[in-house]
Amino acid sequence: MKKHNYSAGPSILPQEVFEKSAAAILDFNHSGLSILEISHRSKDFVAVMEEARALALELLGLEGKGYQALFLHGGASLEFLMVPYNLMKENGKAAYLDTGTWASGAIKEAKLFGETVVVASSKEQNYNFIPTDYTIPADADYFHCTSNNTIFGTQMKSFPKTDIPVVCDMSSDIFSRVLDFSQFDVIYAGAQKNMGAAGATLVVVKEDILGKTGRAIPSMLDYEKHIKAESMYNTPPVFAVYASLLTLQWLKQSGGIAGIEKVNNEKAALLYNEIDRNPFFKGTVKAEDRSHMNVTFLLENEELAPVFDELWKRAGISGLPGHRSVGGYRASIYNALPLESVQVLVDVMKDFETKAGNTKF
Ligand SMILES: Cc1ncc(COP(=O)(O)O)c(C=O)c1O
Repeated sequence: MKKHNYSAGPSILPQEVFEKSAAAILDFNHSGLSILEISHRSKDFVAVMEEARALALELLGLEGKGYQALFLHGGASLEFLMVPYNLMKENGKAAYLDTGTWASGAIKEAKLFGETVVVASSKEQNYNFIPTDYTIPADADYFHCTSNNTIFGTQMKSFPKTDIPVVCDMSSDIFSRVLDFSQFDVIYAGAQKNMGAAGATLVVVKEDILGKTGRAIPSMLDYEKHIKAESMYNTPPVFAVYASLLTLQWLKQSGGIAGIEKVNNEKAALLYNEIDRNPFFKGTVKAEDRSHMNVTFLLENEELAPVFDELWKRAGISGLPGHRSVGGYRASIYNALPLESVQVLVDVMKDFETKAGNTKF
């Protein structure tokens, strides 16, 4: 039976990425060797790394604009501390927008390095909106925000204008919508949602903001060292980088970010329209801040959960239960999830309406 995978991450990737990466495990580039057993310094793997780095910049429209793309280890969580290590001056300060669990994780790490100003937080409302009314201190070394809040289902639709460097955690919406990416000085994202296999983190950094902190930075945490080593300072996560390259190639063939954004908008509209129309469901976040990647919703009557759960499971849907911080359901509709899968969920919601409406509970 066809599965409709709504997992929040690791999550669905294009079928051709699964097929090509499986083939590369058995025989990479017709070499008779697996991608898992060749040197990361071999010509074939160096070509993978070079293309993945170049394609990431190309798709973001950042080629030739002073940016470098790196594929590092450690997940987005390691960037929570690499960012202050590389950007916060000794005795400096940083500004953070607190829009959810991951943002507050980044704040916690920054506090180990120096003064960390939280410019605004939606924590009191269980992060169900994106604050917009705040001032960024002009003397901070950088401003950090999270473009998409995977757990709470909110997404920043615009970004503040400021003269200080802007750092953005785009783990759960990178490559999903057209933005002027040059408004950011650092973009980072764990690979395991819109990009590839878990194990690699994409970091896109504007080179001229580096080297200004006066801090001694351990080599593995130093962006400049990784840039100099062309993202091969040590053995890179070869398979995760290869799967990321395949996904980026698929994205380019699918019309790039602009092409996928059209489909993403259609998927989000289909699902949110049903949540709003169907009297048995309600959304959890302020309408204008709704994420186009993670759609969070609740049942009006929680007691009907067993009925709904049985229907979506029977339809081949997986990964739908919400995160414990929100409850209910979370449909992660990342780039690789087809529109047809969203239609299956919407049909299940309509079916549930009929069944629940006809039954006495
Ligand atoms: C927005 C965001 N930031 C950071 C993380 C942490 O990523 P990782 O597990 O790669 O450290 C996640 C994980 O889901 C996330 O969604």
